[in-house]
Amino acid sequence: MNLTFRQLKVFEAVARLLNFTRAAKELHLSQPAVSMQIKQLEEQADTPLIEKLGKKLYLTEVGHEMYNYARSTMQQLLDLEETIGQMKTLQQGHLKIAVASTANHFVIRLLGRFAKVHPKISISLDVTNRISLLDILDRNECDLVIMGRPPVNYKLTSVPFLENPLVVVSHPEHKMVGKTQVSLKDLAKQEFVTRELGSGTRSAVERFFSDHNIEFKTKMDMSNNRAIKHAAEEDLGLAIVSLHTLELELKAKTLEIINVEDFPIYRHWYIVQREGKRLSPIATVFKEYTMQEAKKVMQDFNMPYAAPK
Ligand code: PGA
Repeated sequence: MNLTFRQLKVFEAVARLLNFTRAAKELHLSQPAVSMQIKQLEEQADTPLIEKLGKKLYLTEVGHEMYNYARSTMQQLLDLEETIGQMKTLQQGHLKIAVASTANHFVIRLLGRFAKVHPKISISLDVTNRISLLDILDRNECDLVIMGRPPVNYKLTSVPFLENPLVVVSHPEHKMVGKTQVSLKDLAKQEFVTRELGSGTRSAVERFFSDHNIEFKTKMDMSNNRAIKHAAEEDLGLAIVSLHTLELELKAKTLEIINVEDFPIYRHWYIVQREGKRLSPIATVFKEYTMQEAKKVMQDFNMPYAAPK
């Protein structure tokens, strides 16, 4: 059946009022226009929908069915209109974001504040490493991603919004702690606990070592920052991690930053979406919020965000 929404709308009015003249008035149409729509609809259905007995109109059995469908279709459309209105005014909506494991520390705080400003929205957050984030973007499975600088050969739109300094940390009693500056040559003699292949931090560290022509000796690799920091606390090796993950350990003094030549490694956090992606109203607002507020959130929570001098 090839019926139109206009035909359904006209039919709904006629069936409800059982009167062509009143239906025409309500719809601001002429009576012949209304009769024509009903006639076309009956042709589509290939059966009568309305019958006239004496002066009165009645719905046929099929007409009753059609009326039920017409009413629920129109109600759905009204609901849709209302939902769109609420989404536009951010009274509802679902935000789907994915973030690099390393960014999780500050993103949770950012989301906490954002959710207070927009209490009616729901959020899903995927926390994973860089390589998996690129897959998520590729499959168009989220609105926005927060990660280190994305590779250029992907069709992505990305905006940097916060520095991400990577620092060398160790057990507080390590012999390098407190030295004014450790040379890269000396650093290269150390063994490291490091992130897994596929992590953005890991590839930035490897790139740094190879750019400086020094060897990067890894003792263990682990798939999350917490495990790495724990291993460094247990003196299993030095670690190079984002300063943004060190809030608790620096406060509790279970880890110390070592001053190393040419450190920190400066990276940036980017907010990333697929090129050409049409963001929902809530995703658009979250993107702006992130760009404006991320640094402030770090300051307000007293989280380290700028590298130590
Ligand atoms: P990761 O994130 O090390 O947790 O993968 C950092 C990044 O994307 O650069």
